[in-house]
Amino acid sequence: MVPHALLIPFPAQGHINPMMQLAWKLVSHGFLLTFLNSDSNHNSILKANAPNSLHDNIRMISVPFEFPVMDTLEGVGNGMDAVEKCMGPSVIDRVIQEINAREEENKLTCIIADAWMSFGLHPLATLHKVPLAVFHTAPVSIFAIHYFITNMVSLGVVSSDGIPKQDQKTKYLPSMPPLRSGDLPWLWGGEYFFRKGTRMAQEIKHIKWILFNSFLEIEAPVVETLSKEVGVYPIGPLIPPEFLHSTASTKVLPSLRKHETECLQWLDKQCTHSVIYISFGSTGIMSEKQVEELALGLDATQRPFLWVVRSDLMKGSEAILPAGFLERVRDRGCIVSWAPQLEVLSHPSLACFVTHCGWNSVQESITMGVPMLCWPYFADQFINRTYVVDVWKLGLPLDANSQGIREKEEFLKGVEILLESEQGLEIREEARKLKGIARDTIKDGGSSWNNFNLFLTAMKRQPN
Ligand code: UDX
Repeated sequence: MVPHALLIPFPAQGHINPMMQLAWKLVSHGFLLTFLNSDSNHNSILKANAPNSLHDNIRMISVPFEFPVMDTLEGVGNGMDAVEKCMGPSVIDRVIQEINAREEENKLTCIIADAWMSFGLHPLATLHKVPLAVFHTAPVSIFAIHYFITNMVSLGVVSSDGIPKQDQKTKYLPSMPPLRSGDLPWLWGGEYFFRKGTRMAQEIKHIKWILFNSFLEIEAPVVETLSKEVGVYPIGPLIPPEFLHSTASTKVLPSLRKHETECLQWLDKQCTHSVIYISFGSTGIMSEKQVEELALGLDATQRPFLWVVRSDLMKGSEAILPAGFLERVRDRGCIVSWAPQLEVLSHPSLACFVTHCGWNSVQESITMGVPMLCWPYFADQFINRTYVVDVWKLGLPLDANSQGIREKEEFLKGVEILLESEQGLEIREEARKLKGIARDTIKDGGSSWNNFNLFLTAMKRQPN
């Protein structure tokens, strides 16, 4: 009997990607996998990727669900509740029963659920007599800040409903760097997110295996503190070796949007370390004024750039670029609606990454050795920015003015410091060093390699 895992990602690109990377790793260790998506994501994946490019040992299945419109805070809360209802324990129970009835020879041997999908799954896994592991796709620090909320309340640094007591930079936890008050990951989503995050951390603390898409070397103090309380297993970076060593693969990591691979040929024509790559992940939204300032900033740098302008980058309309911009930058700009980001970040032409600091983007940038200009929007992105800039020294912040706009001058200054100054040189050197450390951690005997092997051994044991 081969080990057979049911993987349950949260239904969004930033969670499906790392879960799929974990899936590739498990397949290479002899697992059979069933990957559960919502119907709408399942259909997007089939549309955006050729069916024969998907991995043979990863079976893609789906259940009915589509995110409701999430353009207000209330909408986001409703969306999160709807996920829990439509892809929650009773639905998963039915899915498990169907898989086991169909797969007489290969019944499920374990469940791996995204941390935000794990509500109510512990009793269900016990009922089906299979181990449950939780995969927290963001860094350990983000879990810790949700987990230790009562400590922060007792210390008097936040109120019991998660509101910071001070405006200045504060050490919310002894094992984490000082954070700006606006860095706390639930603040953008209000009390709903605070309660949900706290519940998530409390619910999964009893689960033996909490996997993280991070690695010990970048988060050692917080890993050490949290490990005294729960089973912390950083196993990242999970980027498959095919993407680290440019070995040809006929398989792709499925994306919800079609990758515009022509930009790779465009990158081939640019000079080494010359191109600014700009991408705000799958969710970053900009105002018309902000798009204009960024375009003017790009224009002013006089450097080649690759900019991901998603069709939904601007709320309610296609992105509106300043008049004459496209003509002016025709010879040195490439605009796509979705890039093959891993290949882009590993391309020798890249100079730096202007990123919203979504955790996958940060982790991918670290692993490819690309320095960052940080432009966070919400959730974990502010803490990720603090680590990138203040702790790992891999990038610079791009700060907004009092109206919340990153002005052209701020952008131009950031690019020039990062790519031209002594300070920039030190940052680029740190990025190069951390790339090596990130890659070493997944090699034989590295800390992520060890954690992954402990996990594998436990999951390969037959269920009792
Ligand atoms: C969301 C949250 O915003 C983020 O803060 C959290 O850490 C994860 O969930 P998202 O905004 O999509 O994620 O950002 P990110 O975490 O960077 O994930 C985006 C993924 O899409 C990355 O794996 C990236 O490689 C991929 N991507 C992005 C592409 O393949 N092409 C693109 O053009 C842009």
